[in-house]
Parts: sequence; structure tokens; C-alpha cells
Amino acid sequence: MKIWAGAIVAAIVGLATQASAQSGDPAKGQRVFNQQCRACHTLEKDGAQATGPNLHGVFGRKAGTAEGFAFSEAMVKSGIVWDDTTMAEYNRDPKAKVPGTKMVFNGVKQQGQLDDLVAYLKQATQ
Ligand code: HEC
Repeated sequence: MKIWAGAIVAAIVGLATQASAQSGDPAKGQRVFNQQCRACHTLEKDGAQATGPNLHGVFGRKAGTAEGFAFSEAMVKSGIVWDDTTMAEYNRDPKAKVPGTKMVFNGVKQQGQLDDLVAYLKQATQ
């Protein structure tokens, strides 16, 4: 009996973890963006290039190719294509993912906040 109970608990925990890793909350993500990214980035079509590049249409695009922004050589040569995974990795620790990046940002360290942020960015950059 004990073994079964343990297996069931493990299965439930596994499912819960999987679900939370995939589904961030865009409303919460907007708050993260406003607090941590907005000082440097715009998201809307034809938005201004500020300290950081405009992020409209960033998903599916090669890193460092947005027009009208002077990216670092490190970003241009990174070979990254932005998707859920690369977006989360870069924003967790920009300098680890792209050594030499000129994005001066420490990173979003909480996985939940990162999931929310990516969910928001996917909507707001389309
Ligand atoms: C202090 C200003 C600053 C802050 C804060 C900042 N960024 Fe950036 N970001 C930049 C700069 C500058 C670059 C260009 C980096 C390079 O060329 O190496 C950049 C690049 C990027 C890129 C790559 C864009 C592309 O087209 O390749 C993404 C994605 C990005 N930032 C997302 C974010 C998100 C999300 C946040 C908030 C969690 C954030 N940034 C916070 C300045 C900032």
C-alpha cells in the first residue's frame, strides 16, 4: 500500500510541475515586464528603439536582426532563434546565455515569473 501511495503522489506532482512549466499567466507577466523590461524595451509594431531594441515580432526571429538597432557582436553571432526556451534562458541570466551581450540586466530568477513573462511577451509582441 505504501509503495502505491508514493507512486500516485509522485505522478500527481509530476503532472503539476509539467503544467506550470508550460503555462504562464500573461497578466502577471505584464507586471514583470513593466517593472523589469519596459524602461529599455517597446513591444508594439514600429515602437521606438530605446536603450534596448523594439521587440515586436521577436518570436521566431534570429537574435540581433531587428532593423534599426545596433546590437552587440555577441548577440548577432549568438545564432539564437527566439522561442519559449531561448527567451526564458536569456532572461534568466543574459550574460550566461550570451556572453558579451550589452543588455545590462541581472535576470529574472523565479521560474514562475519567467513563465508569466514569456506568456505575456508572446501575446504582446505579435
Ligand atoms: C537596461 C536596459 C535593458 C533592460 C532592463 C532589459 N533589456 Fe533586453 N536588451 C537591452 C539591450 C541593450 C539589448 C541588446 C543586447 C545586445 O545587443 O547584446 C537587449 C536585447 C534583448 C533581446 C534580444 C532582441 C533581439 O531582437 O535579438 C530580448 C529578447 C530582450 N532584450 C528582452 C528583455 C526582457 C524580456 C527584459 C526584462 C526581463 C529585458 N530585455 C530587460 C536592454 C535592456
